Amino acid sequence: MTSVNLRSDNVAGVAPEVMDAIIAANHGSSPSYGSDPLTDGLNAKFGALFGRACFVQPVFTGTATNALSLSLLAPGWGAILCSETAHIHDSECGAVELQTGGAKLVPLRQSDGLIKAEVLEEALTQTRWGNTSVAPPKVLSVAQATELGTVYQPGQLAGLADLAHRFGLKFHMDGARFANAVAHLGCSPAEITCDVGIDVLSFGGTKNGCLCAEAVVCFDEALSEEVRYRARKMGQVASKMRFVSAQLHALLEDNRWLKFAGHANAMATRLSTGLSQLQNVELLHPVDANEVFVSIPEAMRSALTSEGFGFYDRGGGHVRMVTAFNTRAEDVDAFIASAARAQERGDQ
Ligand SMILES: Cc1ncc(COP(=O)(O)O)c(C=O)c1O
Repeated sequence: MTSVNLRSDNVAGVAPEVMDAIIAANHGSSPSYGSDPLTDGLNAKFGALFGRACFVQPVFTGTATNALSLSLLAPGWGAILCSETAHIHDSECGAVELQTGGAKLVPLRQSDGLIKAEVLEEALTQTRWGNTSVAPPKVLSVAQATELGTVYQPGQLAGLADLAHRFGLKFHMDGARFANAVAHLGCSPAEITCDVGIDVLSFGGTKNGCLCAEAVVCFDEALSEEVRYRARKMGQVASKMRFVSAQLHALLEDNRWLKFAGHANAMATRLSTGLSQLQNVELLHPVDANEVFVSIPEAMRSALTSEGFGFYDRGGGHVRMVTAFNTRAEDVDAFIASAARAQERGDQ
């Protein structure tokens, strides 16, 4: 039986180039707890990528990256505005609340995962500023790409940033799939981060071919002291940090991060194009990055499952497929063909 698992990009393995870099770092001894040359070299590497100085703290998981990033920006008595579909809100078990010392996450209405400027404006203008009954908004957090596979245009981010700054908020970006967003837009990484006033970026590596490597990218170098101490306190400073940093170097080397993400995006487009030609299959959100959300009949879902195709069943007939750096075109085509066979048989 076929075994093609498109449940998540987390089910993909590690890119051989990343594994090679871990092996290459495995010789002799090296200073511990992030004092090694590979970790030290990350600031210059990311600095070149964004075209400006930044401070980079490597961490192991996306959840820790978001919690650490937001702990730098939000006081425990403040609120963090995010989308109602934000991973920080519904999938991180309160990690942000814990690490900020109690900041309140306030979910905002979204359209295809995106926060619209008018929704943010309404939230900010309706806040009872100065009333101690209400946690005042201190940070706006957006995911780029979003949890629903869509991507903010630079102009949309600039509009959100204008509003956020007008009301004194800091701006955070959950970039667990940042590479997919940049690959989709074809813009420079700076255009959708520091240029539009992002203060701290959670940069994702694991979903894009790393084993366990993400990074908190601080565009304000003054945060370098606090981020290092907080990371240590969170248990996110590996004694053998060089093996985490080696992964990030390998990912950025030779523009791999964009090549990997561009491939994943192309596979998602191929999948959504094929599936949306089938009757009874409805595309639920635009496919900008590497995630495909569709509504499909129960019998088609069962047929796919019994033929060995994995996807994430979100209930109510809605499923999610996520492609990765190593998704094969033939597997995508086989997935579509399996769904098409179910349709031809008239499975209901
Ligand atoms: C948008 C987004 N942010 C953050 C994370 C958290 O990553 P991790 O599972 O490594 O903690 C995920 C994981 O699925 C995600 O989709």
